[in-house]
Amino acid sequence: MKILGIESSCDETGAAVIEGTVGKLKLFSNVIASSADLHRQYGGVVPEIAARSHIEFINPVIKQAMDDARCDWDDIDAIAVTKGPGLSGSLLVGVLTARTLAILHGKPLYGINHVLAHIYAAFITDGPDGYELEPKAPEFPMLALIVSGGHTQLVYFKDHFKYSLLGTTTDDAVGEAYDKAAKILGLPYPGGPSVEKLARKGDPDRYSLPKAKTASMYGFSYSGLKTAVLRLAQAEIGQDYNFPSHKVAGELSARQKADIAAGFNKVAIEVLVDKTKQAFEEYAPKSVVISGGVSASPELRKQMKIGLPIKPVFTDPKLCTDNGAMIAAAGFFTAQKKMPQDNPEELDIAPGLSL
Ligand code: KG4
Ligand code: ZN
Repeated sequence: MKILGIESSCDETGAAVIEGTVGKLKLFSNVIASSADLHRQYGGVVPEIAARSHIEFINPVIKQAMDDARCDWDDIDAIAVTKGPGLSGSLLVGVLTARTLAILHGKPLYGINHVLAHIYAAFITDGPDGYELEPKAPEFPMLALIVSGGHTQLVYFKDHFKYSLLGTTTDDAVGEAYDKAAKILGLPYPGGPSVEKLARKGDPDRYSLPKAKTASMYGFSYSGLKTAVLRLAQAEIGQDYNFPSHKVAGELSARQKADIAAGFNKVAIEVLVDKTKQAFEEYAPKSVVISGGVSASPELRKQMKIGLPIKPVFTDPKLCTDNGAMIAAAGFFTAQKKMPQDNPEELDIAPGLSL
């Protein structure tokens, strides 16, 4: 069964073709066009710019994914598209394109939950050279940690689509905190990779940043950490909390910036490892999947390997941030498990969709 996956929930336009058989998922193509460069000057995603870019990119990206996979429409068995969560204008472009293609070519259509799809990226077992894929799909029961720009969630899966949400963030997602810390430190968007890179040059123990206390055991909270970074930076340059955050970076020394980045990176990761470890002990899963944009972090991978009693399953670094392959992978299991198809005349976006 060959699935075309389409992703357009934020600032990446993605399309990919995947073939699924029992126990195996093979990636044939994975094309991504990002508008991140256009958002960089604003320090975050500008929804109107993202939506406009999707309109420009979506047809060429899908065509490229089909060409790379050496497919024509006769080879495609179903179309999967992100229906939410995400930015409305961005989601609309992907969903309307997928609906049109499904009607035009008479294909089944599946609207996919983007957060769930991040986990399914870890089920891709075979692909072109250059991908670091696990040769075997994760086993159930499975514990999944999704860490992205919009989500920080621990989920326990008894089986495909049979899950319970153990905890989520009550405010900012961890990726969002990276992006905001980067802005304070004057580092480019997206903040995750730039904070992580600078953190490698810094002393993680020079400053002590707080770990948030959460009401529920597996809950997360990252907005306090972001504020702590701002207050620390203001104090380091001899200013009080009234000093504007956009001027802080200009006053910090290179050493101060690197040490703050290192302190932030350490605490952000420690919280994720601690909670995942606790959940592992309570639920004793057969596998632990770590996915989403922040899971590309080499330091997070290292600390998870040290902290967990079993080897965690990481998504290939190229499949951690948003892409069409994860949507196609989730689409395959949706079809295989005979979950309901969506009506191509009616499928709507769901910007606030949760797990
Ligand atoms: O999964 P994703 O592409 O989009 C959402 O669904 O939100 O995740 C994007 C997030 C951004 O916040 C970005 O800063 C973060 O992932 N990120 C990283 C790294 N690469 C991307 N965070 C930490 N370390 C990285 N290497
Ligand atoms: Zn995502």
